[in-house]
Amino acid sequence: MKKIVVLTGAGISAESGIRTFRDADGLWEGHDVMTVASPQGWRKDMALVLDFYNQRRRQLLSVVPNDAHHALVRLAQKHDVTIITQNVDDLHERAGSTHVIHLHGELLKSRSTLDENLVYDCTTDILIGDTCEVGSQLRPHIVWFGEDVPLISTASQKVLEADIVIVIGTSMQVYPAAGLVAYAPRHAEIYYVDPKPFISFELGRRPGLRVIEKAAVEAVPRLVEELVGG
Ligand code: APR
Repeated sequence: MKKIVVLTGAGISAESGIRTFRDADGLWEGHDVMTVASPQGWRKDMALVLDFYNQRRRQLLSVVPNDAHHALVRLAQKHDVTIITQNVDDLHERAGSTHVIHLHGELLKSRSTLDENLVYDCTTDILIGDTCEVGSQLRPHIVWFGEDVPLISTASQKVLEADIVIVIGTSMQVYPAAGLVAYAPRHAEIYYVDPKPFISFELGRRPGLRVIEKAAVEAVPRLVEELVGG
């Protein structure tokens, strides 16, 4: 049994019908990310931000995990797998993955604007006037640009202990997530699944890097079969 860390980005959910961020020339469903994914945007137009995530949440409830998500569940039946995802969807969990670290938050959760430890399940719209138990406006439980990434140290520790790191469907543009691969031990095998891979500084320094220039639904099941000895 090996310790495997899987770093996933928007690309793994693309074939479930959830659009990626940078394939759409930097707009997120037609919005500048700083308008809908930053504290400044929230302060400027709370209703716009709430409506944006309400639409994303409704869309998420209408899509399903794909073969790449399901293949990672099979991988975890043979190995010690931790998924560290930049995605805010719950498709890994719905496929059956149990060890999932959401670096950038979760679409199906809301939180207090007064106490960030007050986090709630959320499958319906968040509206202005919806408050937490201490009376402050609820917000999406999403890490916005410029905000801390509370789980990054937990994630880094997992990568430090990995025998294998599999990077799937991320443009490696957003730090600190994109820097995680640098924590992999020298002996670790690194795989990168992406039809248009971006070899970041950190990836470029890994001599044993294996790049698989294919879509996740095609490449991940095959890679898992290889790793489980199928
Ligand atoms: N299979 C695998 N990879 C794919 C597929 C697919 N079917 N389709 C697209 N990709 C790849 C693209 O080539 C790209 O490299 O997925 C990557 C998506 O990159 P981004 O859109 O930048 O998404 P991501 O890297 O997850 O963004 C990181 O940026 O906007 C913020 O917080 C947001 O978590 C997000 C972060």
